[in-house]
Amino acid sequence: MLSLFLFSFLCASWHNVFAVTLDTEGLPDTGLDTSNWTAGVLPPLEDIWDLNDMQMAAKNVLSGKYYASYRTGALNEYTYQANLGIYSKVRLNGFGFRDVSNLQTSTTILGYNFSQPFFIAPAADAGHANKSAEASLASAAGKAGILYVPSISSTLSIEKIAKAGLEGQVMFHQEYIWANTSRVIDELDRIKAAGFKAIFLTVDNTGINGIRTRAMRYTASEDTGHAANFDLNSLAAFRNLTTLPIVPKGIKTWQDALTCLHLGFPAIYVSNHGGRVLDGAPTSVEVLMDIRKNAPEVFSGMEVYADGGVRRGTDALILLALGARAVGLGRPPMFANIWGEAGVSRLIELFGQEMATSMQLMGVSDVTQLNTSYVRPKCSSYAGCD
Ligand SMILES: Cc1cc2nc3c(=O)[nH]c(=O)nc-3n(C[C@H](O)[C@H](O)[C@H](O)COP(=O)(O)O)c2cc1C
Ligand SMILES: *[C@@H]1O[C@H](CO)[C@@H](O)[C@H](O)[C@H]1NC(C)=O
Ligand SMILES: *[C@@H]1O[C@H](CO)[C@@H](O)[C@H](O)[C@H]1NC(C)=O
Ligand SMILES: *[C@@H]1O[C@H](CO)[C@@H](O)[C@H](O)[C@H]1NC(C)=O
Ligand SMILES: *[C@@H]1O[C@H](CO)[C@@H](O)[C@H](O)[C@H]1NC(C)=O
Ligand SMILES: *[C@@H]1O[C@H](CO)[C@@H](O)[C@H](O)[C@H]1NC(C)=O
Ligand SMILES: *[C@@H]1O[C@H](CO)[C@@H](O)[C@H](O)[C@H]1NC(C)=O
Repeated sequence: MLSLFLFSFLCASWHNVFAVTLDTEGLPDTGLDTSNWTAGVLPPLEDIWDLNDMQMAAKNVLSGKYYASYRTGALNEYTYQANLGIYSKVRLNGFGFRDVSNLQTSTTILGYNFSQPFFIAPAADAGHANKSAEASLASAAGKAGILYVPSISSTLSIEKIAKAGLEGQVMFHQEYIWANTSRVIDELDRIKAAGFKAIFLTVDNTGINGIRTRAMRYTASEDTGHAANFDLNSLAAFRNLTTLPIVPKGIKTWQDALTCLHLGFPAIYVSNHGGRVLDGAPTSVEVLMDIRKNAPEVFSGMEVYADGGVRRGTDALILLALGARAVGLGRPPMFANIWGEAGVSRLIELFGQEMATSMQLMGVSDVTQLNTSYVRPKCSSYAGCD
């Protein structure tokens, strides 16, 4: 009896010499088995079944510094966590007696055709995950027919990212409001010359970034170079600097959404920057609900994009049902890029499968037909569900 006990004990400890145990940070239990992974070594893509698995794989392979740079949010990460949690507060209606044998996921974004209503959001420094950096994000997006919007703080240059795209691939480009106007002018000209079709202008971290303590332990926070005095006059001046359509990114209130409509922007991008800037900012679900209540004309007058914590096909469907035309993925593609293009392609495939499956189960065959009838009103706001 004792020897049997000792034997099992020894087996268990022997096993533990190799086992990788990752703190899964409260993410859903996907049954992922990391016991045969080696710390710091890229696990096989075959082990990966969803976007949460990809985050764990990135956690296993990236240095603490680079994982923190991608993963962390500002201050207590209330907004980061709320972004992930809000989708559990919204119920989806599934209608029977509908023909869902022919699913249509394609849509237009600013008039351009894409195969899916989700896109790769701008995120800095893709090179921290893989040498291919933004090139693999561009090519994977191009092959899948989805939109990629590279960050102006990318590892690769504007021109190199453009070249990595496929012939005829439509990409937009993100820009910041630099205090140095010559820099803004120079970059806007290069973005247009390189063939990008629109600008996502990030307006939510003027002059400063959020304080992300866990990332700061590795890297001292630096001067962002962003202008802190960017007001409505500056916005008007900025619009004179390019003929490309401009989409303000980082809209967090219905009032700013309405202002953008009145100013004649073709679209807005509702986002709290993945919880990385103002901790306490509302989630996109809440902001979309606020706009529906206080300024519903925004949805008929312009396109609305949204992001934050989207990890499941159902998360995207919720944002689309609440009025978003397209939905951004920030961290997941950065994590997927540890495998280069193959990882990003797999992410697009897995996420597309989740979305298509759920559409079919909801009785909606065309993503452009999603509307509020597919979400339960009482459970569509944080307050209504608590
Ligand atoms: C590592 C990282 C870098 C980012 N860099 C930028 C950036 O350069 N410009 C920008 O507009 N947004 C940036 N964002 C915000 C994303 O565009 C997006 O709004 C956010 O990540 C969406 O939330 P999610 O990560 O939960 O999907 C970044 C986000 C992350 C995680
Ligand atoms: C771990 O085991 C699974 C299932 O047996 C296998 O598919 C995978 O390749 C293994 N992973 C590693 C890193 O060896
Ligand atoms: C976009 O798709 C529509 C419908 O399938 C098609 O009529 C249109 O020509 C396409 N536009 C472009 C630019 O490919
Ligand atoms: C401003 O931007 C221009 C163009 O990129 C650059 O040449 C110049 O050095 C910048 N000036 C400062 C003060 O950084
Ligand atoms: C923008 O350009 C127009 C036309 O050239 C000009 O009338 C207007 O004053 C400019 N606005 C700003 C804020 O620079
Ligand atoms: C990066 O991606 C390539 C495939 O593009 C892959 O072979 C490689 O293992 C990845 N990892 C690193 C650290 O470059
Ligand atoms: C939502 O879409 C359904 C199915 O296409 C339609 O019957 C319904 O009238 C729409 N409801 C609203 C509120 O737009």
